[in-house]
Formats: sequence, structure tokens, C-alpha cells
Amino acid sequence: MNARRIFSSSRGAAVICVLLIGVVALASRSAEAAGPTDVPKGEHGAATMEYQSKELDRLVPSVDVSRAPLGFDPVVWEAFMPDDNALTPQRVALGRKLYFETRLSADGTVSCATCHDVTRGFTDQLAVSEGIKDQLGRRNAPTTLNVALLQTLFLDGRSPTLEHQAKLPIVNPIEMGMADGDAAVDAIEDDEEYQVAFWKAYGRNVNYDDMGRAIAAFERTLVFTDSPFRRYLAGDGEAISVEAKRGWVLFNEKARCVSCHPMSPSNPLGTDNRFHNVGVSARHQDFEALAKRALAALQEDPSEQRLDELALSTDMSELGRFMVTKNRSDIGAFRTSLLLNIGITPPYMHDGSVETLWDVMDHYNKGGEANLFLDGGIEPLALTEEEVDRLVAFLFTLTDVRFADENRRQFERQKAQARENRPLRDNEMAFRLKLAFEK
Ligand code: HEC
Ligand code: HEC
Repeated sequence: MNARRIFSSSRGAAVICVLLIGVVALASRSAEAAGPTDVPKGEHGAATMEYQSKELDRLVPSVDVSRAPLGFDPVVWEAFMPDDNALTPQRVALGRKLYFETRLSADGTVSCATCHDVTRGFTDQLAVSEGIKDQLGRRNAPTTLNVALLQTLFLDGRSPTLEHQAKLPIVNPIEMGMADGDAAVDAIEDDEEYQVAFWKAYGRNVNYDDMGRAIAAFERTLVFTDSPFRRYLAGDGEAISVEAKRGWVLFNEKARCVSCHPMSPSNPLGTDNRFHNVGVSARHQDFEALAKRALAALQEDPSEQRLDELALSTDMSELGRFMVTKNRSDIGAFRTSLLLNIGITPPYMHDGSVETLWDVMDHYNKGGEANLFLDGGIEPLALTEEEVDRLVAFLFTLTDVRFADENRRQFERQKAQARENRPLRDNEMAFRLKLAFEK
């Protein structure tokens, strides 16, 4: 049975499923989580692959592929597993090796773990990612935590499966920059360790499709849903603070976050897996002109690789879901973000333009950014400062307890920054003393 069907049938529309920070802050960050005073840095500012690998051993000491992760119904978990890629220890081990493999990039400096760094909440904690030759993209790297539970991949949903997704960064010119799948195979196929590992995992020689499969298998072991909030919902009344409990009430009522970010024991990710324009890219785009250009570009070359390039390295990135569906109503729409582990994956939004969770709240409080395609669910919320603090306190309870140190450090860091500067705060808009069209 297909996961999509299970979720839509059992839970209706609510389907399952979450600055450039000062270099100094980054240096101290994962050090705290790991214990030692410093994290050894490799290429592009990411922790070295060796260090990340050790950190991963600490976070996931063993993997039992025969069991559903904590809190998951085995039948539901099974439904997420594609027929041709059942989880085996050999596949997970191969995928893990490939995840850290810099030889899969054209200049040998970039692996998946460069941008989805184990010591940084499996993202890079940068506004937008840096790939080979220090090229910057247009999008913020989402975490690879819990991607096993998503219905589509990428912020515009342009990839249907983890297996499919994992092959794209390898050949994207500004990410890992391999000419094609064959070039990726060439890069590692002489390595005897890989030859053995591919045979053990899939009974075949080194090949590009199995690379995607193995990486996907590894990603399915990165399920991190054991947050204090989960424990609270499971009956532990002490798991979260009184302030966070008040934030949870606001989340469901006055702030209406729940309409797009459903959160429940059976739906832990906090996304409806749908696409909405909440006004982030509207800050600096002429959507109509951009959409015309995008249609022309997509007509000229409709391949999925071209779409990947347009989304990652041009202004058209801001069109979001429109690039996939070409529906006008999808202009500027992005997938509702996962809220699990949100505390440790700043900065926020598809372009990394929002630095702290206080700023995220300011964005919503003033009714987003007015534009023709703004989702009807986004309007001024009239939240007081106290209410904003409560919502933020709640959001910080959504981080898996294994990242508790980093979560605490982020809370303090973001709080200090928010005390200094709240660039998106606009109380006149939030309390409707001024209306969007008067701006
Ligand atoms: C240069 C940085 C970079 C590298 C290298 C990179 N990624 Fe990403 N990753 C990103 C960015 C940026 C996005 C968001 C792109 C988008 O949504 O259009 C992303 C998105 C994803 C997603 C989708 C997550 C979601 O929420 O939908 C997954 C899964 C993922 N990457 C896994 C990988 C894997 C596996 C590799 C290695 C084969 C890899 N990435 C290499 C930057 C990178
Ligand atoms: C109309 C649907 C909708 C509503 C209502 C909504 N969100 Fe969102 N949320 C989204 C979408 C879509 C994104 C991604 C936007 C982007 O990347 O441009 C998002 C992004 C976020 C992010 C950033 C996540 C990240 O990793 O970058 C946070 C945090 C968040 N929302 C929290 C909230 C809170 C708290 C509320 C209630 C005040 C709320 N949202 C209300 C749809 C919604």
C-alpha cells in the first residue's frame, strides 16, 4: 500500500508528517553538543567528515532496520518503504559512506554532509548553501532529519522520492557539479571498498541509481522525533514549561499556525505537506514578470535537471511551486516547513532570509508580506510580545532530546539577537492600525 493513501484515508486532509551566523557562534555551537571545546572544520565551513561521522555514531549508536522508529506504527512505517529498496544494514552502511563522500563532487570538496552537516542539525545553518567553487545557491538547505516522512522532496516538491532526490545534487552545477551520473560512477568505481559494498547491498556493480537508493536507505535511519513536546502529548505533563504550554494553545487558537502546521502524535512533523504563499519572497519580486520568464525557460528545456538548476541558481527560485505545476495560484508558494527540530536549523524560510524564531513570529504577526498570491490563511494576528515569547518557547520544545544542548544554545543565541534587533517587527500592521494597502 502507498503511504499517501494510508494517510489520506486515515487522517483526512491532515496528512503525516518541521545571518549568516557569526563564525564565532558556529565554532562554539556543536562543540557544546559534542563535549570537546572545538569542532574541526573542513571545506566550506562544515565540520570535517571524520568528525561528523563520529558525531553520528554518538547520535545513532546502532540501527535496527527490522523495526519501525520510536512511536511509529509498523504498518505505517512499512508503507513509506519502496518495493525495490527495503532497508538492510548493508544498504544503510553504503548510503552512509556515500553521504560523506566528497569524491562525488567535481572538485572533491563537497559531499551531502557539507550542506547537511551532522553537527548543525543536518543543515549548514547558512542563509543559502555553498557548493563547489564556493558557489552560492538561492535556497536555504533544509535538514535531512525526518525526510523519510515527507510526501515530496525539495521546498517546491519537485522530487517524488528520496531515491530520486539524492541523485540531483550530485549533478547540479553549483552543488556537487558532476557532469552526469556516469561521472559520479567513474569517481568511485575503482575503489575496492565500494565494489564490495555495492555488491553486498544490491548485488550489482557500482551504479548511479543504486547510489540514490543507498543514500535514501541511510536517510531513513535519521528519524529524530523524540521531542519534549512529543513526551508532553504522550502524557508527561512536566516535559515542557508552562510558557510553552501557553504557546501550544496560541499555536492552535489565536495564531492559527495549526491550519498549515498540524502537530499530533500521528503527525509529528508539523507540515500539511502542501504549498502556500506566506509572503516571504514577495518582499523583493515582481512575480508576474518572473513567471513569464520562467514559462519561457521551461518551454525551451523541460528536463528535470534544468528545473533543478533554475530553482537553485536563478531568481526563478522565488516562484516556488509554480515552477513545478505552472499554476498561477502556486506563485511564490513553498511547502509548509517541518517544525520538528526547528530550534536547531536557523536561519529560516526557503531563502534563509529570516534569522531567528522571533523574526518568524514577527513575519506572521504582521500578516506576512502583501502580494496577489498570498495564502488566505495569512493575516495580522495581533499577538502581544508576551504571546510571541510563548509561541517561540513552544517551538523550542520540538527539538529531539538528543540535540538538547544545541537547542539550548540556539535558544540563548537567538534570544540575545532578538533583544538587539527585530527587523520584521511591525506592531502597526499586527494590530491593524495600518492596513497592507496603505503601506
Ligand atoms: C551545496 C549544498 C548541498 C549539497 C551538497 C546537498 N544538498 Fe541537499 N539540499 C540543499 C538545498 C539548498 C536544498 C533545498 C533545495 C530546494 O528545495 O530547491 C536541499 C534539499 C535536500 C533535500 C530535501 C529536503 C526537504 O525538506 O524536502 C534532501 C532530502 C537533501 N537535500 C539531501 C541531500 C543529499 C542526499 C545530498 C548528497 C547527495 C545533498 N542533499 C547534497 C543543499 C545541498
Ligand atoms: C497558510 C499556511 C501557514 C500558516 C497559517 C503558518 N505557516 Fe509557517 N510556514 C508555512 C510555509 C508555506 C512555510 C515555508 C515558507 C517559505 O519557506 O517561504 C512556513 C515556514 C515556517 C517556519 C520556518 C521553517 C524553516 O525551517 O524555515 C516556521 C518556524 C513556521 N512556519 C512557524 C509557523 C508558526 C509559529 C505559525 C503560526 C503563527 C505559522 N507558521 C503559520 C505555512 C504556514
